[in-house]
Amino acid sequence: MSKKYYILTFGCQMNENDSEHIAGILTQKGYERTDNVREASVCVVNTCSIRENADDKFFGNLGDLKGVKRDNPDLILSVCGCMMQQKIYVDRIKEKFPYVDIIFGTHNIADFGNILDEFIEKKKKIVRVPDSSPVTENVPLRREYRHRAYVSITYGCDNFCTYCIVPYTRGREKSREAVNILSEVECLARDGVKEIMLLGQNVNSYGKGLTEPCSFAELLRMVSKVEGIERIRFMTSHPRDFTDDIIEAMASSDKICKSVHLPFQAGSDRILKLMNRHYDRAYYLGLVKKLRERIPGITISTDIIVGFPTETEEDFEDTLDIVRQCRFESAFTFIYSPREGTKAAVMDGQINHETSVRRFKRLVSTLEEEISEGVKIYQDTVQEVIVDGHSKSDAGTLTGRTRSNKLVNFTGTAETGDTVNVRITKPNTYYLFGEQI
Ligand code: 5AD
Ligand code: SF4
Repeated sequence: MSKKYYILTFGCQMNENDSEHIAGILTQKGYERTDNVREASVCVVNTCSIRENADDKFFGNLGDLKGVKRDNPDLILSVCGCMMQQKIYVDRIKEKFPYVDIIFGTHNIADFGNILDEFIEKKKKIVRVPDSSPVTENVPLRREYRHRAYVSITYGCDNFCTYCIVPYTRGREKSREAVNILSEVECLARDGVKEIMLLGQNVNSYGKGLTEPCSFAELLRMVSKVEGIERIRFMTSHPRDFTDDIIEAMASSDKICKSVHLPFQAGSDRILKLMNRHYDRAYYLGLVKKLRERIPGITISTDIIVGFPTETEEDFEDTLDIVRQCRFESAFTFIYSPREGTKAAVMDGQINHETSVRRFKRLVSTLEEEISEGVKIYQDTVQEVIVDGHSKSDAGTLTGRTRSNKLVNFTGTAETGDTVNVRITKPNTYYLFGEQI
């Protein structure tokens, strides 16, 4: 019987993509995947440190794994990801969770196979967390889906938004050479992948430090030429770096989905400045207007933070005002969470939790009003949907995504990976309901 591995992933798509590489390395070593940690010989927990509640969940899980390790002392327990790039967490794990065998970081995922071999040979705890690394190519990969795939195009971030830990945990922004991205996409297309998501903390600034210069717009144009790929998405976009050239590239290719994830974070100019976002509300609203004019039907999603240090009721009203003006398709909403080592964590004027929660609830209800109004345009339309599988809550229902990245649950007979037409019979705030035609 072959040995099995279990991976638990927290956080964003970059982490999911990293976990696919870890799965690829383990598959190459002859391990099989399991969803039951009690069957596993190797367990990897890939962590996130973007907000405090991610920390709490992680330490809870690590506590639960103590029992698993007690019952199976041969289990090799590894932790990696953004939290491990911060010394305070590594120290805490060493002290409070001594049964963790391997600690590695975001920069040495490609080396995990060697680290594992070393542990198996010496049976001695390994803590290896380098601060940086060059871009590594050809790391094995085991994809989660057959019909869609993540393709990382940049790593790290140079923006230093004052609330954000990412520039510290993922290091300076680096881009993959376009030829390598293209050959990966061609390989995916040959493998039957229909939809790709180009990933980076700030994809729009793609191209820094390349041997062969290439902008994000040029990369989009090149990727659009790959035969077999039906849909191209990308995230995340920083509003400051959304050039006209990128808008033109989107407008001129049918394959590039007419949807963007464009976080605005806050609606007040004063808060945007304190956040170090490098744009003001007028610029953001102007960009949304330009996108809607140049790319009719484009859908825009966003990220919003409430309760940033010194935020007043008036500042918060400015955030609500952007929500009312922009007709977002969806939004991720967050209560500001101080992250040790960031500038905002030591700013005067931290907002008390009750105030933040009150604002958060108002923000969510405003968004829900706007979104439920906006989705009415889907009523009785026919949407092209790529099927992701059966719905988790109802096995009789299929689920998939429209070109605009809207979740659709529907009745029908299609198979996972099929592209089908669905008539929308009931648009809800968080998903559309329909029937296959
Ligand atoms: N507190 C709250 N939200 C945050 N984000 C990033 N850092 C923090 C923080 N310290 C949010 C931003 C970002 C998204 C990925 O997470 O909105 O766009
Ligand atoms: Fe964090 Fe800002 Fe970089 Fe996004 S752009 S990862 S919010 S520092």
